[in-house]
Amino acid sequence: MPLRVSFDDFPTLGKKVNGKRLVYLDNAATTLKPKPVLEKMVDFYIGSYSNVHRAVHTLASRATVAYEEARMKVAKFLNADPSEVIFTSGATMGINLVVNSLLRSGILREGDVVLLSQAEHHANLVPWIRLSKFHGFGIAYIEVNEKGVLTEEAILRGKEYKPKIVSVTGHSNVTGQVIPLEFVREVFEDAILVVDGAQLVPHKRLDVKDLGLDFLVFSGHKMLGPTGVGVLYGRKDLLEVMEPFLYGGEMIDKVSFEEVTFNEIPYKFEAGTQNIAGVVGLGYALDYLEALGFDSLEEHVRDLTEYLIEELSKLEFVELYGPLDHSHVSIVSFNVEGIHPHDVAHVLDQEFGVAVRSGHHCAQPLVRALARGTKLSNFPNSTVRASVYLYNTKEDVDVMVEGLKKLKGWFG
Ligand code: ALA
Repeated sequence: MPLRVSFDDFPTLGKKVNGKRLVYLDNAATTLKPKPVLEKMVDFYIGSYSNVHRAVHTLASRATVAYEEARMKVAKFLNADPSEVIFTSGATMGINLVVNSLLRSGILREGDVVLLSQAEHHANLVPWIRLSKFHGFGIAYIEVNEKGVLTEEAILRGKEYKPKIVSVTGHSNVTGQVIPLEFVREVFEDAILVVDGAQLVPHKRLDVKDLGLDFLVFSGHKMLGPTGVGVLYGRKDLLEVMEPFLYGGEMIDKVSFEEVTFNEIPYKFEAGTQNIAGVVGLGYALDYLEALGFDSLEEHVRDLTEYLIEELSKLEFVELYGPLDHSHVSIVSFNVEGIHPHDVAHVLDQEFGVAVRSGHHCAQPLVRALARGTKLSNFPNSTVRASVYLYNTKEDVDVMVEGLKKLKGWFG
């Protein structure tokens, strides 16, 4: 079924930027928010807002019901049990929670090997790298090829390291490659599998049980939801034996001056007052996406990505990165010969109203690895990145491509 988006739901798209129609192609960084989701959040704040799980008054109970309903929506969306859904501030906090809690529980120990990929966002690199320095576990990498792609051969080679934990992205925020998670699970059948779903989950309905994921993290703001809220899915038996990451109110069962016992999962991982309206808003965003249909959304984004790649490939002065095949979804990184990505992005914004991201995209090692395959006279260790979502159209792509042709002419 074709995707039926109501553009009235995204008033930001009707705004002018520098006198031009806004063409928003920075969805991998964050998505726009639908007006109905924002309106429901305002209603929640006005009519049902209080702290959750604490007081017995009516507002508190309304807030608690709304909060727990959001958990149930997420659980259903992932095919998980509600007790396996932990609300976090985003994907970054989710990974930090996993690494720290696995260490504190002795599941990850000195001498163990954690296998990452060279295609990771800093959020799935820095926590492992830094904590390996204090705790003595080893880190190995699945290598990317000269296009920044993780091939099945490279994934298979990772087996040599006998990793206890494999932590990989499901969808690269630089190359747009969707990683074959079924294959990763098959190759590392005994490892604990952690997936950074920040880019994947906004585009694809995942069944965590079917895929055999042990942990999955993602952020609400990349899927029409508010900022500052995310989800950690964790396998029940692991969560049950894991030490919490944050300590404080609400995550406890009994507290004395000497001892503490913990609340049951998921609450033992949700210390302090949570981002209540954020969680509720994420639930509304999920309702919005479900109503549009994830299959239609996926098809729309795939078609648009194909068109984007096709049109950019016609420009002989543009170098493209990533797989450029069926596994390439929503995110397209490129460079313009002789012009720095920041200049490209700046001119696209100022002259054509096109919003793209430029730089290393919080994935410095991956972007540096792209230098191996470059034909540019001077690889800038950064790229321009265009990323599409449900409200983008072929016309948006055309505006950017025409802009690139003009700016190439201006820069000579
Ligand atoms: N992780 C976000 C991005 O890739 C911010 O742009």
